Amino acid sequence: MNKIIVTGGCGYIGSHTIVELIQAGYEVVSVDNLINSDESVLLSIEKITGVKVKNYNLDLSDSSSIDYLVQHEDQILGIIHFAALKAVGDSVKYPLRYYHNNVSSLMNVLHWIEVKNIPNLIFSSSCTVYGETEKLPVDESASFKETSSPYGKTKQMCEEIILDTYSSWNNKQAISLRYFNPAGAHHSHLIGESPINAPQNLVPVITETAMGKRSAMTVFGTDYNTRDGSCIRDYIHVMDLAEAHVLALQYLITGKQQSKVDAYNLGIGEGVSVLEAIHAFELVSGMKLNYKLGEKRPGDLPAIYADLNKAKTNLLWSPKKSMDDIMLDAWLWEQKRNLNHDQ
Ligand code: UD1
Repeated sequence: MNKIIVTGGCGYIGSHTIVELIQAGYEVVSVDNLINSDESVLLSIEKITGVKVKNYNLDLSDSSSIDYLVQHEDQILGIIHFAALKAVGDSVKYPLRYYHNNVSSLMNVLHWIEVKNIPNLIFSSSCTVYGETEKLPVDESASFKETSSPYGKTKQMCEEIILDTYSSWNNKQAISLRYFNPAGAHHSHLIGESPINAPQNLVPVITETAMGKRSAMTVFGTDYNTRDGSCIRDYIHVMDLAEAHVLALQYLITGKQQSKVDAYNLGIGEGVSVLEAIHAFELVSGMKLNYKLGEKRPGDLPAIYADLNKAKTNLLWSPKKSMDDIMLDAWLWEQKRNLNHDQ
């Protein structure tokens, strides 16, 4: 039994994690309803790994999808649950859509785990659960503070639901992985971030601006109390993130986790400002980016970056890629995917 279900397997972090899972010897099945992804990513995964991955095009927030999956998949060793909506701004505009999709999907996945007695769960969480934390670098013991977006609240709620549910279960364990700011692409540049909807995250906004898809970009806020006035974040290469999922899964499978549920930060552990990120891009690409200084984006925290000691000690994980690696892979991926679209 080495079958891992990856929900959101056609999405950005899901697809990169599938590559790592296959290369670590797992059988992978994806469940993705393609609302913000494209099934063609599975062909690219096949090019990289030589393995064809099956995808169920099902909406996990609909309980009949779980009934179908219960009937069709057996012998499941674990689930990595990525499938969720993730645009902070959209979640403010459409809160019900976010609560319904993100929370109902998790509850349905938990139902699936209960019915099929699936022993291991990795949940895709976010540093957004810390809300307006003042503790920097933030570690996993920090309590959840008020978070400004419904997206952030869904991540807090999902972690709480997992805690409560697992405390009533025996023989099942879970890990929540709290990502800081994922960016970059697989080194083949056959997969990367390619959302159907226009990206709003900094790194793809930078590469799209350089590509000429946007005439200019805006730095949101220049008078934060930070070293250069712009916001500070902790960017993490998507392949480092993918590797952490495999290690977390193996940590559970090999019985190393004492508690039923635990959580880990995944970042580089260093703060990078928006202006520093832009300069890193300019350095690796040799281009001048057309950016302007603008107003703050509502809901943005001035600074957040990770304390990584727990992941380093327990999971034996540490990030291998730098901010320059992130920018270079993101830029090469952006160019390659546009080449493919033009053909
Ligand atoms: C947020 C969440 C993160 C979540 C992610 C999902 C926090 C602290 N982080 O990331 O957990 O996974 O959303 O999308 O809540 N910026 C610009 N110009 C742009 C775009 C972004 O200046 O055009 C700045 C933002 O103001 C921010 C930084 O770049 O300071 C990073 O923004 P973004 O990539 O959107 O991620 P977060 O908002 O940090």
